[in-house]
Amino acid sequence: MPHGTDLPARYAVFGHPISHSLSPAIHRLFGAQCGIALEYVAIDAPPVSFEADARRFLADAHGANVSLPHKAAAFALADERSAAAIRAGSANVLTRRPDGRLAADNTDGSGLVRDLTERQQCPLQGCRVLLLGAGGAARGVAWELLDAGVAELTIVNRTADTAAALVGALGVTRARARYWQDLAELGSFDLIVHATSAGVLGQPLPLPHGLADAQTVGYDLSYGHGAQSFLRWARAAGARAACDGLGMLVEQAADAFALWHGRRPATDPVYARLRAEQ
Ligand code: ATR
Repeated sequence: MPHGTDLPARYAVFGHPISHSLSPAIHRLFGAQCGIALEYVAIDAPPVSFEADARRFLADAHGANVSLPHKAAAFALADERSAAAIRAGSANVLTRRPDGRLAADNTDGSGLVRDLTERQQCPLQGCRVLLLGAGGAARGVAWELLDAGVAELTIVNRTADTAAALVGALGVTRARARYWQDLAELGSFDLIVHATSAGVLGQPLPLPHGLADAQTVGYDLSYGHGAQSFLRWARAAGARAACDGLGMLVEQAADAFALWHGRRPATDPVYARLRAEQ
């Protein structure tokens, strides 16, 4: 309880735009499931005022989730940072410690891995993975894919230097960068993770069908409208499954909930309910 009162603990998700965020519904459902009273609201903060808005909110709240485009700024403003946040260079969770210090964490990668392995029947051990994109979303999941034991992580980005820089930061021979114009020569992959913002921006993403075969899982880190063009491509290319990021959203939220409340809620009922409403 904040400041020793009996008021429910307060949380928020910050983003811009944020009005369609599912995070308030997810955390309220988790809270109800666990018998934990909490308030959770969505706060639209433009980049120019995000830091001041987040600091003001967290002065008497317990924590916040952070969505686009504020994840790097959230990482920067924190007083302490988890290992996952440090390697991603971004944070999707801010927690106010009892002494007022702000802690940054990143649960996007763990959320993706849990959704893939536990919900989508996509074991990662020994898997050949293509990661499309090398921006913030890709950095948020690349290390966890390697930690999960993928055999090979091929990173392809429109701007080749950014992919090369990410591979350099990952620092293992299992990760390699390839040029976008060479996609047609790479053969097929067990898993293709779409982490560019082309779908959200409504821009075309030319991908050869040869990247997928009947064993391939295509996974878009976004959900809703922004995921649809990649999912259509994956189905047309013959992939065995085409998944949006709704499951990752619920799993990263459960990891944030566990950080705040010391207890991880059951995610399947919440996922099923949101999926039914999509
Ligand atoms: P996010 O946090 O959503 O990842 P970001 O850090 O700006 O946002 O990264 C956007 C990613 O989408 C980058 O990999 C970007 O490629 P560039 O590094 O070349 O900019 C990629 N991207 C955006 N629009 C794209 C498009 N139309 N085609 C291919 N890649 C695109």
